[in-house]
Amino acid sequence: METETITQVEHDVPFKLDVYKGLTSSPKEISSKYFYDDEGSLIFQEITQMEEYYPTRLEMDVFKRNKSAIVERVEAEHVDVVELGAGDGHKTKVLLEEMVSKKKLTRFFPIDISEKAIRELLKNIGASERLEVRPVVGDFFKGLDQVVSHSTNPKLALFLGSNIGNFGPEERISFLTNLKQALRPGDMLLIGFDLKKDINKLMNAYDDPHGVTKRFNLNLLKRINRELGGNFDLESFHHHAFYNPRKGAMESSLLSLKEQDVYIEEYGVSFHFDAFEPILLEHSYKFTMTEINTMAKACGFFTVENFFDSTNGYVNSLWKVNSEAHFH
Ligand SMILES: C[S@@+](CC[C@H](N)C(=O)[O-])C[C@H]1O[C@@H](n2cnc3c(N)ncnc32)[C@H](O)[C@@H]1O
Repeated sequence: METETITQVEHDVPFKLDVYKGLTSSPKEISSKYFYDDEGSLIFQEITQMEEYYPTRLEMDVFKRNKSAIVERVEAEHVDVVELGAGDGHKTKVLLEEMVSKKKLTRFFPIDISEKAIRELLKNIGASERLEVRPVVGDFFKGLDQVVSHSTNPKLALFLGSNIGNFGPEERISFLTNLKQALRPGDMLLIGFDLKKDINKLMNAYDDPHGVTKRFNLNLLKRINRELGGNFDLESFHHHAFYNPRKGAMESSLLSLKEQDVYIEEYGVSFHFDAFEPILLEHSYKFTMTEINTMAKACGFFTVENFFDSTNGYVNSLWKVNSEAHFH
């Protein structure tokens, strides 16, 4: 394997500014992208190894069952694979190995906001593969700009782990439309969607009995303490996850268990919490096939094929940039 040094691109909005905006808005809200500092990325790895966190297992099942069919559907002879929010890459490895064995793959560009995640990925996607890896640390689109300026081959973009579920309905359309614009006609996107399912299964995954998801959510307050000099008392916040059927999403919040003021040194001010006031942290939307097909069309893609796990609880949908819908 040929591995180049990690490219760093600057973040769109710094953590400090976003946290201030989030704690002064009503309701208080902080983007889930800030979960992934070094400690958060390691806790997320723990989550993916839990029996209860089925999305990782189901997506891995999709790949093991369908890797050959997926790679056969990628038409171009040599492709560059670019993965948005790659994490530790342990599932991606299954696809990459298949592509290498079919001599389809030219280079792999994993993009992640977390340097720790990229370092874990580099341990997984290891020296035995005949593969050039060009890792990028940064936000999705800053990272993608960096990649497209270095890659002229046809591309297969990957957006796995039902990462798309973290975006609300409007945000996901603009995200995918922007992604389509960064790609070229004929380029492809393999995107993972968690399908709507039994609520108990969802609850177990997002509020597990071992307390790992709780630790993951509370780590965001620890991160504020560490990086911004906050004095959040973790014991006085409660991890609350529930399924909102009107939205079709799991929602995770931290609730202040009492009325309190939290001082953050970087801003030199305290933030007031009423008893049981939430900080909204994450939505994980769940989808139906009708919603997925409509989304593909609305964003300028057409569906090549859908690949399911053996329980039909998860789908990886292979989309192609629709040349007629490409305006530049
Ligand atoms: C839910 S995890 C999924 C990881 C991996 N794709 C998987 O399927 O296991 C989300 C990943 O996206 C990264 N991420 C979140 N927001 C991001 C952003 N705005 N730009 C780049 N990476 C981001 C996180 O650091 C994390 O590694």
